[in-house]
Amino acid sequence: MAVAASEINGLNLTPLSKADDNYHRPTELKAFDDTKAGVKGLVDAKITEIPRIFYHPLEEHDSNGTQFHIPVIDLEGVGNDSLKRKHIVDQIRDASEELGFFQLINHGIPITVLEETRDTVRRFHEQDTEVKKQYYTRDLMQPFIYNSNFDLYSAPTTNWRDTFGYVSAPNPPDPQELPEICRDILVDYSKWVMKIGKLVFELLSEALGLNPNYLNNIGCSDGLAFAYHYYPACPQPKLTIGISEHSDTDFITVLLQDHIGGLQIHHHNNWIDVHPVAGALVVNMGDLMQLITNDRFKSVNHRVLSKHEGPRISVAGIFSTTLLPSDKLYGPIKELVSEEKPAIYRETTIRDFSIKFQSDGLGTSTLKHYKLNQANV
Ligand code: OGA
Ligand code: NI
Repeated sequence: MAVAASEINGLNLTPLSKADDNYHRPTELKAFDDTKAGVKGLVDAKITEIPRIFYHPLEEHDSNGTQFHIPVIDLEGVGNDSLKRKHIVDQIRDASEELGFFQLINHGIPITVLEETRDTVRRFHEQDTEVKKQYYTRDLMQPFIYNSNFDLYSAPTTNWRDTFGYVSAPNPPDPQELPEICRDILVDYSKWVMKIGKLVFELLSEALGLNPNYLNNIGCSDGLAFAYHYYPACPQPKLTIGISEHSDTDFITVLLQDHIGGLQIHHHNNWIDVHPVAGALVVNMGDLMQLITNDRFKSVNHRVLSKHEGPRISVAGIFSTTLLPSDKLYGPIKELVSEEKPAIYRETTIRDFSIKFQSDGLGTSTLKHYKLNQANV
């Protein structure tokens, strides 16, 4: 017999199929939040029907069958072969201008580190719920945050996903503040991602015709935060979504995914799959990058489908100082602005930009608030 969410002891969530005039979304969001067990808790309770709060039917799209694919760029030789480096920079430029996404192979992070990182995410989310609950919080001042849907109370759509995260730069937490179950690998992985990020910013600078150190020098790699996502197997995957359509607010995101797939980018009215490539890292441009490059590099909307198969695990390395206090202003880079290409955006601090994003939630465009000519919006 199907187990509906409301029948699960203590959950009190209206299942999708149940006509219930008393359904009150805010109350049920709170009830779900109070379990502190996330979507994983629903799956553990063996529900066969999603609670109504997760209902988000996908519009029909012309998926797949497009001639576009996300380029897989081989970094072999990037540090010691100038011809290869030039070719890599050309590929990165094309991908960043057109799709805002590319994948990197031969990036130098050992495959064992990637595997251990994914295993660790799984271990954290699958540990004893009572132990895990102690980390459940929405307090952004905490050094380590685990919750389900960071924008639970503001976003129109509740996602089939749990996440933990922390800020690793510029002020890394004392390792003792990270859960022991994942501490060592988080610290190790963040060092690797910082290294790759700095290299990608060099290549992006070159792609823009700037000094290789330009983007690192203006602070693009000063801040790094991580979101460790866990997308449980879903009993009704077509009726909900793993992560809503959104663009990232940072400079770039360096994403590690697993073999399951489901990540798609929105391009010319099509959804293009970001196919899992063993050992690869996915890199995408965020809104701040689009802002400072005056629309040269595109921050493209993307989403993750939920699936029967799971859990899917991914790790987003987010290059931004996010909410850290700062007076530093970012606007279109002056070398990229000319009479023919006047500045499209006004300047902002990263903190103001991030606050705007946090308050609007996933799926809203932060960038449009900073357009200079509001008539174009
Ligand atoms: C994100 C994101 C994609 C994924 O964290 O912003 O888009 O595959 N993640 O988890
Ligand atoms: Ni994203």
